[in-house]
Amino acid sequence: MSRARRVAVVGATGAVGQEFLAVLAERRFPLASLRLLASPRSAGRRLRFAGEELPVEPLTPDAFRGVDLALFSAGGTVAREYARHAVAAGAVVVDNSSAFRMDPNVPLVVPEINLAAARNHQGVIANPNCSTILLCLTLRPLQVAAGLRRVVVSTYQAASGAGQRAMEELRAATTSLVLEGRRPAPKVLPHSLAFNLFPQVDVFTEGGFTREEDKMQNETRKILDLPDLPVEATCVRVPVERCHSESVSVELDRSLTPAAAREAFVRAAGVVVVDGDPAYPMPVFVAGTDPVAVGRIRASRAFAHGLCYWLVGDQLRKGAALNAVQIAENL
Ligand code: A2P
Repeated sequence: MSRARRVAVVGATGAVGQEFLAVLAERRFPLASLRLLASPRSAGRRLRFAGEELPVEPLTPDAFRGVDLALFSAGGTVAREYARHAVAAGAVVVDNSSAFRMDPNVPLVVPEINLAAARNHQGVIANPNCSTILLCLTLRPLQVAAGLRRVVVSTYQAASGAGQRAMEELRAATTSLVLEGRRPAPKVLPHSLAFNLFPQVDVFTEGGFTREEDKMQNETRKILDLPDLPVEATCVRVPVERCHSESVSVELDRSLTPAAAREAFVRAAGVVVVDGDPAYPMPVFVAGTDPVAVGRIRASRAFAHGLCYWLVGDQLRKGAALNAVQIAENL
């Protein structure tokens, strides 16, 4: 029997959707057919895939007829409305939104960490939050080596995390400020991001945290199977195009020297170490690459058995499209 799959990409015109196409082509995903779905706004558009031009079709409940695998990245509302149609048509859904991530019947998967969980799916597999995927890839080797007690993390999140239109808004506002000295009012992001940053990703929830910060705690707990792990996040949007960075402090159960932590990172799948004087990971070098890059590995001054480090990962690749395609490859 052929391994080739009939695939649909929902949200194909978006930032992650475009990256889905790039990753499917690069990895030579075995495709029997490829269907590109988006909103009626994109009717008539054509997108390039592996040297061909494919039409974008409007998303409708019966768009999944004959589809084996549906890669969704069109937000939670679309996922909640259309994933069931895809499943009813016999497709497996890998969804990049937060709609199903905390549903106990839906596996939340980072293949390097908990691929086995994907086998129990009931039609839908959730792709975790982008900052959380990058964080968990680096927490897992420390968890295995010395046990995790608590995590304090600050993120520096790129415009790409808010979608294609946010990236365009950042570019246009930066150009306008440089060339005309004028700061246009933001339409997509909550504040103007050009030459600025703001400590808010997603909406505020309880106790002064934001939903992104809640996701980082709740999803990390589910992926690492540590239901009580305290994860204190502060998520910041910065004027970077497409890589998220994170400053991480961890308290461990047992002591682990920075040299031993470095060894654990070197051995971990999906992680590269860029750590020296003066080498450390930066978005300009990490953009377009697959692994999460770790550096500035040092002993904590705040926790007895603690470590601090810095990570950078491409939000659109391992933080979204690549992780979802890796899940699909392993199904
Ligand atoms: P469209 O380009 O037609 O609006 P991003 O996260 O980069 O903003 O991308 C969101 C993706 O989700 C886009 O491909 C967008 O399509 C798609 N999308 C948004 N709303 C809908 C909808 N109601 N039905 C289908 N696709 C949608």
